[in-house]
Amino acid sequence: MDRPPILKIQRISKRFGKKKVLKNISLDIYEGEIFGLIGSSGSGKTTLLKNLIGYLAPEEGDVKFRYDYFVKKKSKDGKPMYASVFKQQRLAKNLFGFASQEPSFYQKLTVKENLKYFGSLYNMHKKALDSNIDILLSLMDLRHAEKTLAGDLSGGMERRLDIACALIHDPEVLILDEPTSDLDPILRDHIWSLVQKINKKGTTIILASHHLSEVENFCSRLAIIKDGKIIDVASPARLKTKYAESQEIRIQTYPGRYSNIAKAIKRPGSNVFDIQIRGSELIIFSDQPQAVIHELLHTLEVLKEELIDINVSRPGLDELFMKITGEEKKNP
Ligand SMILES: Nc1ncnc2c1ncn2[C@@H]1O[C@H](COP(=O)(O)OP(=O)(O)O)[C@@H](O)[C@H]1O
Ligand SMILES: [Mg+2]
Repeated sequence: MDRPPILKIQRISKRFGKKKVLKNISLDIYEGEIFGLIGSSGSGKTTLLKNLIGYLAPEEGDVKFRYDYFVKKKSKDGKPMYASVFKQQRLAKNLFGFASQEPSFYQKLTVKENLKYFGSLYNMHKKALDSNIDILLSLMDLRHAEKTLAGDLSGGMERRLDIACALIHDPEVLILDEPTSDLDPILRDHIWSLVQKINKKGTTIILASHHLSEVENFCSRLAIIKDGKIIDVASPARLKTKYAESQEIRIQTYPGRYSNIAKAIKRPGSNVFDIQIRGSELIIFSDQPQAVIHELLHTLEVLKEELIDINVSRPGLDELFMKITGEEKKNP
């Protein structure tokens, strides 16, 4: 893209105790996008979202946002200015709205009282707050429930209230962590159409989901995260073509030092986009199987590995995606 990014995630790594949960993640987010972060449960989506809003501090790396949007001072040459979310926490707090996986509103307050309460956390003028509450009640389809206790809301309405609370201060960037989990398909569609509506009003959206099929139609770009690493970032269309054209090369070798083979084959710029060791097999995913096999044979010779079996096949898109994200195939 030719525009400067609104957010720059730069080489973030995060540990919990000994476990490295995010591994050197870099991503640019552009204004007006709906950016989807896709990965199976435990892949690091929530941790990444909490790092990028400055709520959790990574051990390494930084997150920078377009600072010149929020200050009067501009750079002399008109170039965008960036500041770290960890250093400019007050501005970062206003930049982001975050709807977490679990409800964060108060059960014992009504819908409207919740919105007022969340607005009070941002030092908003009463007039601006009242106007935002009014807009959000309509936009999120909660007008008829404004006096209902949040604890009495249905699942879909709870989710809408949570998103409304995240939007109360008119953030530039709305973060949604699995906004449709535990909802039935009709309620999911409703949430997704609201997400698109919010985006059309100018809000940049970053969302996490573990269903590619649910979000592929309206995200501008998708990042696939697996074990704390971004393994791919592309438009849904490009991702689809790439994955649809990709093939699976399975080999068995002797003595079978697969991690050495994997290391030799997966260099930056190679046509390999994932390698997995499963049981006695090494599995390589690529959209250029011929080139990869050529290189593979050469590598085996150098590493003194004897080829016992090789098999090339073309998995279906869903199947491939599940393999890549490591998600178990669920029975329908
Ligand atoms: N507060 C925490 N303390 C220790 N481990 C954590 C904590 N939060 C998350 N983890 C671990 O980090 C990994 C990634 O978790 P998470 O970011 O929640 O993944 P996702 O949102 O993709 O399901 C998991 O292995 C999880 O158990
Ligand atoms: Mg999560």
